[in-house]
Amino acid sequence: MESLFESIPFSENPLYENIITDLTSKQFSIIDNFFTSEEVLALRQSLLDKYEEDAFKKSAIGNRTNEVIKKAIRGDIILWIDENNINLSEQLFFNKINDLKDYLNRTCFLGINQKEFHYAIYPEGTFYKRHLDTFQNDDRRKLSFVCYLNEENWKPENGGELVLYLEKGEEVVYPFPGKVVIFESQILEHEVKPVNTPRLSITGWLKTR
Ligand code: OGA
Ligand code: MN
Repeated sequence: MESLFESIPFSENPLYENIITDLTSKQFSIIDNFFTSEEVLALRQSLLDKYEEDAFKKSAIGNRTNEVIKKAIRGDIILWIDENNINLSEQLFFNKINDLKDYLNRTCFLGINQKEFHYAIYPEGTFYKRHLDTFQNDDRRKLSFVCYLNEENWKPENGGELVLYLEKGEEVVYPFPGKVVIFESQILEHEVKPVNTPRLSITGWLKTR
């Protein structure tokens, strides 16, 4: 008699396997076209619609006292995505994220059971100084995930490079649309260089409880 498990074979996903190999060997992975140009367009429009509605500004209220200190470290404006209230493009986004998350949990036993994602706009002249994505007394963030929503014709001269500080040296990442960067939140220090043209993205974290 055939084994129960032979009838549900586990099929390897080459893209995800590449990501796992990258993360294991160098603590980060870059996927150039994780999102299609149609998906980028839809997510970008979603970000811009929310910006027009002033949703970003509303989300920033309440942090005024730290605003000056904050600006010296980071100048982006963000809007958290509420996964219980998402539009169609965000649904597509989370479908892909969840699929990868489930694969990582299944094959690497990462135990990821939480996530948080936000839109980010870096206005002209802003940056994010070298930092780690984990806070003191909170090590729940395991994997950082950045997805760029810039225009099709984004040029390196527009600035806003992500610099990953590796043991071996620096890895410079240009924020081209559809590109996704994944790295270990607790290990990799990184920085966003000053931006010359508004820079759009979604950033998030896969977490344990
Ligand atoms: C962050 C961050 C990197 C990027 O939001 O913590 O480091 O390339 N973002 O936007
Ligand atoms: Mn960061």
